[in-house]
Amino acid sequence: MNDLSEILNGRELSRQDIVRLLSPLNKREHCQILEKGYEVKENAIGRKTYLRGLIEFSNFCRKDCLYCGIRCGNIKAGRYSMSDDEILQCVELASRNRINGVVLQSGEMVNSYFIKRVSSIIKRIRKVTNDEFRVTLSLGEQSPETYREWFDAGAQRYLLRIETSSEELYRRIHPDDELHRYELRLKCLEKIKETGYQTGTGVMIGLPFQTVENLADDLLFIKRMDIDMVGMGPYVEHFDTPLYGYKDLLLPIMDRFDLSVRMIAVLRIMMPFINIASAAALEALVPMGREFGLKAGANVLMPNLTPVIYRKQYLLYENKPYIDIETEEVLESLDRRINMIGEEIAYDDYGDSKHFRMRKHIKQYQ
Ligand code: 5AD
Repeated sequence: MNDLSEILNGRELSRQDIVRLLSPLNKREHCQILEKGYEVKENAIGRKTYLRGLIEFSNFCRKDCLYCGIRCGNIKAGRYSMSDDEILQCVELASRNRINGVVLQSGEMVNSYFIKRVSSIIKRIRKVTNDEFRVTLSLGEQSPETYREWFDAGAQRYLLRIETSSEELYRRIHPDDELHRYELRLKCLEKIKETGYQTGTGVMIGLPFQTVENLADDLLFIKRMDIDMVGMGPYVEHFDTPLYGYKDLLLPIMDRFDLSVRMIAVLRIMMPFINIASAAALEALVPMGREFGLKAGANVLMPNLTPVIYRKQYLLYENKPYIDIETEEVLESLDRRINMIGEEIAYDDYGDSKHFRMRKHIKQYQ
C-alpha cells in the first residue's frame, strides 16, 4: 500500500491530503485517483449518466469578466436572443429524446423585462411538459426577490459558479467595480440555497495565478457550503479577452486537463451523493474529454440543444465542441459514447441530486 492508498481509503480528506492529491503525480498515481473517484460514484449512484439539455438562449451580458468571450466589452461578439418559441422547440426536442430537464443559460441581465420573460418561459415549459420536467437556471447574480419569483414560477435548480473561492484570485480575473464583487456572488449563492433550489456552483481550473492550494480550498468551499451539484471545468483562453494576455502563465493543455479530471475525482471522493457535470470545456482541450470526466466520477452530461445558428455566438472560450453539429446528430451518438465507457444513460429520470434529498430530509427532523 502506498501513501496515496492510505489517503484515498482513509479518513475524511484534510486540506493537506487534497493538496497532495492535486499536486503533480506520476501516471499510475493519477489513474489511481481517477479510479477511486469512479468507484465512489459507482457505489453511490450506479453506472448511470443523467442528461440535461443545455439551452443558451441569449448572450447579452452586463458583466465584463476578464476571461469570458461574451463579456459586454467584447464588441466582436455578435449578440442574439432566442424567441420563446425557439426555446420551447428545444424543450420539445429534449422531451422527444427522453431528456426530462433543461438548463436555461444566458448572459447576465437583470432588467424587469428579462425577469418577467424568464418567469413566463419557466411557466410555459412546466405547462407543455405537464409539470413532468426539471428546469435549472444559470442566469447569474439576481436579487433575492428574483430568485424567489423564478422558484415560484417552477424552476427547481440554480447554478451559479463561484469561479474561484479565493477572493484575491476573484479580484484578479474580474474588473474592479461594483458589478463584480466576490462578496456579492457569495451572498447570491447563499440566497439561492435559502430560496430552496437544488444549489449548484463550480470553479474554473487552471486559471492564471491559480495555485493547487487555491483549488484545494475550492473543493473545501464546495463541501462547506453543502452544495448539491457542481459544474467545474478547465479554464480555456479566449483571444478577445483581457486574460488572454496571461496565456504564457497557463499549464500546458494536457496538464490542465488532467488537473480538471482529478478535481472531479477528488470532489467525488469528498461528496459521494452530489451531482457533478462533466463540463463541455473538457472537450475543448481533449477529444472525448467529457467521457474522461464521467470516468473520474462525474454523473451528469449536458448536451447542447441551442440551435446551431446561435451556438457560434455563445463562445465563452475557444475551441468550443460541437459548434456546428446538429443537435439530433449529437443526441444520436450519445448512447454509443456513453455505453462505450460502460455507463448507461438514465433516460426519463430527473436525476435529482441525492445529496439534496438527504439534506432536505435531515432538515425536516431538525
Ligand atoms: N474558460 C472556461 N470556462 C469559462 N466560463 C466563462 N469563460 C470561460 C473560459 N474562458 C465559464 C464560467 C461561467 C460559465 C457559464 O462558463 O465558469 O460561470
